[in-house]
Amino acid sequence: MFPRRHLKLLLIGNAGVGKSALMNQYVNSRFSNHYRATIGADFFTKEVRVDEKLVTVQIWDTAGTERFQSLGAALYRGTACCLLVFDVTSPNSFQSLETWHKEFLVQAEPADPDTFPFVVIANKTDLDERQVSPRHAQEWCSVYRAEYFEASAKEAFNVDEAFLCAIRLGLKNV
Ligand code: GTP
Repeated sequence: MFPRRHLKLLLIGNAGVGKSALMNQYVNSRFSNHYRATIGADFFTKEVRVDEKLVTVQIWDTAGTERFQSLGAALYRGTACCLLVFDVTSPNSFQSLETWHKEFLVQAEPADPDTFPFVVIANKTDLDERQVSPRHAQEWCSVYRAEYFEASAKEAFNVDEAFLCAIRLGLKNV
């Protein structure tokens, strides 16, 4: 028998960057081109076996729109690892990472903000209209000590890898 662990992951980032799509790809191996804005927050659970541990991962997908940003501390607290998502075709979504990062630390109040784990996902890399360079994004991540993944929810590229990294970092943090 493997010991069972519980882990909460949180996806944040601007509206439309693909948070729901990444979660749907990771949990259900599905993708839809149809955009339906998340209202408030949604969560899914997935059972995974990681490094000889059974982990029940609870993944929270939040609304990126301003008017839902006041969900507050209850949503953020207890997060073991935070996934910050931006869209490589939207420089604005990349610039917003700073605000999301800050917002998370204020609301979640982790024991040690300096070592709290973040994973950045540069989503929609399947699109040709890329406007944020990997180098620029990686520089941001090294300043903020975040792991960096280029991904596409549409093509299921690097989605499992990004979540696995978040789970491993989260396990060290609970
Ligand atoms: P909110 O719920 O409003 O915060 O948005 P969200 O971040 O959850 O975005 P969502 O997953 O709903 O995706 C927004 C749109 O982008 C949808 O039309 C998706 O089909 C599309 N999309 C998401 N990921 C990708 C991707 O990797 N590639 C492409 N081409 N489109 C994507």
